[in-house]
Amino acid sequence: MKRKLGWVVAAALALGGLVPGQVSRKAPDPPPEFKPGEPVEQPLPFSHKKHVGFGLKCLDCHVIEDPGDFAGLPSEAKCMACHAAVKTESPHIAKLAEAEKTSAPIEWKRVYRMKEFVYFSHEVHHREAGVDCAVCHGEVAARDVLFQERSVGMYACMKCHEQHKAPNDCEVCHDTH
Ligand code: HEC
Ligand code: HEC
Ligand code: HEC
Ligand code: HEC
Ligand code: HEC
Repeated sequence: MKRKLGWVVAAALALGGLVPGQVSRKAPDPPPEFKPGEPVEQPLPFSHKKHVGFGLKCLDCHVIEDPGDFAGLPSEAKCMACHAAVKTESPHIAKLAEAEKTSAPIEWKRVYRMKEFVYFSHEVHHREAGVDCAVCHGEVAARDVLFQERSVGMYACMKCHEQHKAPNDCEVCHDTH
């Protein structure tokens, strides 16, 4: 599912189209060096380090469902499969149980978020191209609290496409129709 273009992108793409041959298919000049983001405070102190340490796999919680654009976040029911019996004395787990019962999901704050005019697919990158999660999200398995560790800006996308001989036409990531 491609998403609607913002007018700025539409204009840039239209300009590019007017001067064929001048549309760069190479990664643009590198932006200023990427700075990792601040730790993102979540409604519950969920630790990837601990939970991955118990042997849970990324895809156990982040099920890449058809059509595969999103990795998605786990439902409270998935957490309660353990927490119905584990750490029930914790106020955080009480909050989790309450969220499941009232179907008012925990409002996790987003760490990575694509602008709506960019098309991205987890299915294509993880399953088809075999790119590991850590390439784009860093060492999640070693973190108690997540922060944006890697750039997911246009330069980072195009640079990797260049290296892997993946397509870099503007329309691949921006729908021009
Ligand atoms: C090629 C880069 C790339 C790879 C590889 C990748 N991701 Fe992502 N991920 C992104 C981008 C970009 C976003 C933001 C997407 C958006 O906002 O639409 C994102 C968003 C997410 C989100 C937030 C929810 C969502 O689906 O938007 C989760 C969770 C996530 N990724 C987990 C994973 C896991 C787990 C893996 C490995 C199985 C993985 N990612 C592999 C780039 C990547
Ligand atoms: C495989 C079982 C399992 C699953 C599934 C699981 N957890 Fe846990 N979780 C644990 C265990 C065991 C601990 C205790 C770790 C410790 O204290 O060392 C824990 C600890 C926690 C804590 C810390 C509680 C406290 O007060 O110390 C939070 C918060 C938490 N989990 C949230 C979640 C969330 C949210 C999910 C679903 C996304 C989830 N867990 C899924 C086993 C699980
Ligand atoms: C027990 C379930 C569970 C497991 C296993 C798990 N995650 Fe998560 N993941 C979560 C929850 C809950 C959140 C939201 C809270 C947070 O950001 O810490 C999250 C958030 C994320 C995000 C940030 C999404 C966004 O943009 O807001 C990324 C990236 C991510 N996980 C990647 C991974 C990777 C990579 C692995 C494997 C190394 C993994 N996760 C394993 C439950 C899990
Ligand atoms: C680690 C390298 C890498 C990174 C980083 C990366 N990509 Fe890709 N991407 C690939 C490869 C390899 C393919 C080709 C997959 C194939 O055709 O089998 C691809 C394919 C695509 C496609 C084509 C999907 C289709 O329908 O065929 C889109 C769109 C795309 N990437 C968008 C993005 C965006 C947006 C980003 C940045 C957020 C990004 N990619 C970051 C390696 C990467
Ligand atoms: C591999 C994916 C990919 C390709 C190919 C691509 N872009 Fe982008 N583009 C992105 C991403 C990701 C962003 C969002 C950047 C951000 O959030 O900082 C973006 C943002 C933009 C923006 C908004 C301004 C900005 O810098 O944030 C414009 C304009 C744009 N792209 C034009 C183009 C043109 C023209 C082409 C063809 C030469 C192109 N893009 C090719 C991924 C891509």
